[in-house]
Formats: sequence, C-alpha cells, structure tokens
Amino acid sequence: MSSQLTRRDWLRASGLLTAGLGLSRFTPAKASVPNAPLISGFTNEFAFADDPFANMPKLRARLFANENPLGISASAKEAIIKATEIGNRYAWMEFGQLKSLIATDDGVKPANIMMAPGSSDILMAAADHFAKGGGTILTSTMTYDDLLQRAEKFGAKIKALPMTKEYKFDLNAIKASITPDVKLVYIVNPNNPTGTIIPTPELEAFIREVSPKVPVFIDEAYIDFYEPADRPKLGKLVAEGMNVILARTFSKIHGFAGLRLGYAIAQPDMLKILHAYTNGDFAVSITTLMAGIASYKDIEWQNHCRAENAKARAYTTKALADLGYEVIPSATNFILFPIRMKTKTFEGQMFGQGIGIQTRDFNGQPYCRVSVGTMDEMAIFMDGFKKVVG
Ligand SMILES: Cc1ncc(COP(=O)(O)O)c(C=O)c1O
Repeated sequence: MSSQLTRRDWLRASGLLTAGLGLSRFTPAKASVPNAPLISGFTNEFAFADDPFANMPKLRARLFANENPLGISASAKEAIIKATEIGNRYAWMEFGQLKSLIATDDGVKPANIMMAPGSSDILMAAADHFAKGGGTILTSTMTYDDLLQRAEKFGAKIKALPMTKEYKFDLNAIKASITPDVKLVYIVNPNNPTGTIIPTPELEAFIREVSPKVPVFIDEAYIDFYEPADRPKLGKLVAEGMNVILARTFSKIHGFAGLRLGYAIAQPDMLKILHAYTNGDFAVSITTLMAGIASYKDIEWQNHCRAENAKARAYTTKALADLGYEVIPSATNFILFPIRMKTKTFEGQMFGQGIGIQTRDFNGQPYCRVSVGTMDEMAIFMDGFKKVVG
C-alpha cells in the first residue's frame, strides 16, 4: 500500500500547518496580485481553542480540495430556502423523486440506487464490507486512497499495481493479477489525482470480463466533467445484472461538497449489503435532498460549471506548459504535474502566499495537484507559482 494520505491526514500534515506556523518564505501580505479576493481557507472565527487549523492563513485561492469554485446553483439555493418549511419532516417520497430522475438517466431501476451523504459513505461501506475476513483489494497507484486505507485498517491487503506510462489504470495488469483472494477491484474514472480517463470501450470490456469473478467498484466522482454525450454509461451494465458498484457525488459539478450528497448504483443485493454499514438514504437531510433534486434538474448550471472549468483548466495547462512543465492531460477539475522541488517546501511557499494546493511524492518524483478554480484564482496560482519556482 502506498504512503499516500487520506484527505483528513493530508490536511494535518500539509502546508496548511507549515504555512500556519510561519515556516514559509512568503506571507499573504507580500503577494502581488492586487485586490485579490480573500477566500477563507478555514473560517478562523469559528475555531475552537485547540483547533489545529486556528492559525491557518486566509486563502486567496482555495485549490486543494477539488471543489466547485462557482458555488451551488441559484435553483439549489431556492430549494434550500423552501426546504426549511419541511425541515420538521423525515424525507420519504423525496428520495423516490431523485432516484427516479437518476434511474431514468442511467437506465436502471430506483431499486439499483442508494443515496448517501457524499460518496465517501459508499466508499467507507464498501471498504468495511470487503475488508471483512481479510483478502485483497486490487487497484493501481496512484489513486484516491480513502477506500483503500480504510479497508487496510480493517484487515484487507491492498495490491496497487503500477499505472501505464500515460498515468492510466493498467486494466490488463489488473486482469492478470486476479487470484482467488481478490475480493474487490477499485477503479477511479476519471482518476484522482492524475485526472486521466480510461477509454469507455476498454472499461466496459474489462467489467464484462472481470465482474463475473470479482465485484468491480468504479468511483465516478469526476464523471460530470465529461461532456454528457461522451460519458461512459455504465448503468447499462448494472441493468444487465453485472456485479459492478458505481459511486457518484454531488460534491463536484453540483458544488455540494459541504452540503453532502452522493449515491451508489449497484445490484439491489449489493446495496442491501452496503446498507448494513451506513444509514444510506436516511443519512441525507431533506434540505440537501431538495437542493439535490433542483441541482440535478438544472442542466444549464451544470453546463455552465463544466464550461468554466474547461476554460480555466485550459488556461492553467497552457500557462504551465509555457513555463516548461509537463501537465498530465486532465478530464477533471484538477491538474497534476511534476515539480522540481521538494513537496513540503513547495506547499509551504504556496500556502504562505495564500494559495492552497496539494502535492504528492510518487516514485521519487514530486508533483503538484492544483484544483481548477475561477480564472482569477488560476491567475493567482500562476503568479504565486512563478514566484516559488523562480
Ligand atoms: C475520487 C474521489 N472519490 C470520492 C470522493 C469523495 O467525495 P464526497 O464524499 O464529497 O462525495 C472524492 C473527493 O474528493 C474523490 O476525489
């Protein structure tokens, strides 16, 4: 298992702390982008006495968590206000409404869908279940670690195979490594942190071949950044009865990272198993659910967010390439690229300028992962980056 950090571990170990402790070369006051908006990294006014984040710098560009910088849609805001009137009621039919919208789009039945407060809940439930009694979870380095670390904690062995030289999951290598002790295959598509995608025909063929032997978990957290027509339609494989679990989230294009909404698409029997480890639907508040329904229907807002993301991503990719940096082509709302200095030094100096990013060390090579923010934030990022790398 790699030594990558979970999101929570990372927050503790990252430049947020070093910057907060004043170890960095730059301070926000020295930053040279005039009138840049102060974007609260963590709102210090709510910090409690021992809060490790209490001294964090305010961020001018919050680009470390792959959030939607444009916020939630006006329609979702309106739904939240309306939902206050029914906040005294448990949600019932509202789940049905959202599930039937999703089911129609994905060509599955509402019984194939389980809602959750973010897709993390689905990942954790799967980790708990598939780790039970040991066995191996097969995946690739480098990918999103939350499910893997949790499963390892609860007794699973993680076998993470090298990616292809294009930073993609090596499906042939995974297929060749399936042994009787493999209990789950975990694939992130598009992948975090590389931003890469697996061609849909390859992924489909892989699931058809592998899922009769081992369940295949496809984490589709960033799927909404594909143009709708290009999206892999893996729901049809669930409809055909295959043993595949799709995990989706509203945290990205819908901007619900704080509101918390996600869902799984899988066989009803599998959902029943996963439900034993989570409260599923009923962990979602009626407020979030009503906002989710409004946002799901708001295609215009989703198209707007996707287009703005693509614009800011193209700008940053080109600006980095112009400086001689080799950016891994990204299909998501973040970009990964190799850097030429130590990760901790880089993080500290970026956070010191009020620019939140993440880093990775992979095969001895340091990388920067920067989320795609607004154009203004990306200009701040590039300005700060140039200062750090000279
Ligand atoms: C690949 C991947 N899966 C799952 C998640 C969890 O998202 P959430 O719990 O906000 O739905 C994330 C969050 O960044 C992610 O990058």
